[in-house]
Amino acid sequence: MSRNSPARSLSLRRSVLSVPAINARALEKTHVLDCDAVIFDLEDSVAPEKKDEARANLKAFFAGPALAGKERIIRINALSSGFGLADMELVRALEPDAVLLPKVDEPQDVMAISDMLGDADAAETLRIWAMIETPRGILNSAAIAEFGRTAGSRLDCFVVGLNDLRKETGVLPQPGRTYLVPWLMQVILAVRAYGLDAIDSVFNDFKDADAFEAECAHARAMGFDGKMLIHPAQIESANRHFGPDDAAIREAEEIIAAFADPATDGLNVINSNGRMIERLHLVQAESLVHKSRLIAERKS
Ligand code: COA
Ligand code: MG
Repeated sequence: MSRNSPARSLSLRRSVLSVPAINARALEKTHVLDCDAVIFDLEDSVAPEKKDEARANLKAFFAGPALAGKERIIRINALSSGFGLADMELVRALEPDAVLLPKVDEPQDVMAISDMLGDADAAETLRIWAMIETPRGILNSAAIAEFGRTAGSRLDCFVVGLNDLRKETGVLPQPGRTYLVPWLMQVILAVRAYGLDAIDSVFNDFKDADAFEAECAHARAMGFDGKMLIHPAQIESANRHFGPDDAAIREAEEIIAAFADPATDGLNVINSNGRMIERLHLVQAESLVHKSRLIAERKS
């Protein structure tokens, strides 16, 4: 199935805010924040002795008012950690939009969770997201993404985790991410080959707005769909960089209008003001306009 196939949901995933499930005050804040998606984190931001309390917080939060207009993702601990099974029980009870698996090394890691959800007859709308944040995860990213094509796999989205990857590989944090770019592009190629979305890593220094802007622009240019965030101050920049700008929307509307003209029936390439436009641009244009409508609906 291609990424632009009508059967795929075209979700807005410009700003994906991580919130430690242990922080009840921050959980409540998500109702008023303008992010597209929220990752409720049970993994690295929650100390081992606080995992039960974090799960209880999430249970209480999900029992409260619905989080309107935002994708809800629960990041669990690895099944091998000793916490993962209790996390999965909670996922089955709360039925978020997706479960995010940490440190996915190979397709079997995703398969284990797909099987658990399938065996429990979890709603098909409950999707799986995978953190790609280990050397093996990067090396196997194509095979993991390809598993997304298997019936019942539920795999929907990759999230790159550079804090873990830098730790595992020794690559230093440097502006421009020079030595990480080949791996980031490998992840982009994998998701595009198999119709998934890709979210770029968190940026730790949330007080450095200029550096964050530069990293968003960098990620957008590489082809990422959005950025994982750690702080509300990062939401506006991410929405701006990963959302279509006015000029792009206008251009997309022109392309759609041009192909809607009966004069272009049966034509695969047309001349639009001295520029060649192909039907493949029409698919891109429709997806862009669809996303801009979703953004407008969110604002209204
Ligand atoms: N989600 C929702 N609200 C958040 C938030 C988040 N991720 N991070 C901060 N806030 C809120 C705070 O609760 C605070 O609200 P208040 O003023 O009403 O108390 C406000 O935003 C300002 O926060 P600030 O004082 O600047 O930061 P902090 O010291 O409270 O928190 C961090 C800093 C880094 C600890 C916090 O942002 C955080 O926990 N981020 C997520 C970490 C995470 O998920 N890590 C795992 C993935 S890598
Ligand atoms: Mg991690």
